[in-house]
Amino acid sequence: MSAPDWTTLWLEEVDSTNEECKRQAHAGAAGGLAVVARAQTRGKGRRGRSFLSLPNKGLYLSLLLYPSVPPEQLSQLTAWTAVAASKAIQKVSGISPDIKWPNDLLVGGKKLCGILTESGTGPQGLYVVIGIGVNLAQTDQDFGPGLSPIAVSLSQLGRSVTPEEMADALLEELHAMYLDFPQASQDYLAFFRRKCVTLGKEVLLISPSGTQTAYAVDVDKGFSLLVRFEDGSEKSVTAGEVSVRGLLGCL
Ligand code: BTN
Repeated sequence: MSAPDWTTLWLEEVDSTNEECKRQAHAGAAGGLAVVARAQTRGKGRRGRSFLSLPNKGLYLSLLLYPSVPPEQLSQLTAWTAVAASKAIQKVSGISPDIKWPNDLLVGGKKLCGILTESGTGPQGLYVVIGIGVNLAQTDQDFGPGLSPIAVSLSQLGRSVTPEEMADALLEELHAMYLDFPQASQDYLAFFRRKCVTLGKEVLLISPSGTQTAYAVDVDKGFSLLVRFEDGSEKSVTAGEVSVRGLLGCL
C-alpha cells in the first residue's frame, strides 16, 4: 500500500497514545500520525487489561492509518505489526524475540512487547490505530510481583536502548510493512511461522462459550491459528474469537 510519510508527535505524558491517536482521528488528522509518549497514565492492553507505562521505562507508540483494504485483510495488520516490531527490536538490540500468537513478543517466555490494534470511523473514514509498547528499562521492582515473573525489559537482557532509538527503528519497519501490505503476505507469514512459539504446543482456548485444550498445528494464510482437538478434528481460530494460553509456561 502507498504509505504517507510519518509525522511524529512526542508527548511527555498522555492517558494512552492509542486514545490520543483516536482523538486526533476524530479531529480529522491525516494518516501516518505517530504519537509517542514518555509515560502513559492509562496505558491499555488487550482484553481490557492495563499496560504498565512508567516514565521513560518503555516505548509507548501509536500510529494512525487509513488502510483501504477489505476488513478480512485489515485484521491481519496486527500479526504483520508483530513481524515489523520483531525486526525493529532485532535491529536496535540484536535480540530476535519470539512471537506468541497472535501478537505478543517474548524473550525466554517473558513478554517484551505488546501490541493493541483498534479501529473506528472518523471524518476521514475507517481508521486503524496500531499501538505498540516495548519494555526498555524496567527492573523487577518496576514490574512488581504480578508482572516480574512474566515480563522482561531490554535492560534486563543487557541491552541499553533509548525510547528515541526504539521509536525510529519501529517507525522505519512500520513504514516498510505498510508499503508491503498486503501483497508481501508470503514473506510476513513465513517470518511469523518461523518465530511463532505457540506452534507445536498444547494450548488452552478461552472463549465466552468456555475453555478447551487443543494442539497448535499451524498459522494459516489469514494468520489464524489452526488447532487440533483430541478427537482429531481441526479448526482455525481468530484472535477475536479466543484467547490462547500455553499449558506449560506462564503466558
Ligand atoms: C497487550 O500486551 O495487551 C497490548 C499492549 C499494548 C500497549 C501499547 S503502549 C502504546 C499503546 N497505547 C496504549 O494504551 N496501549 C498501546
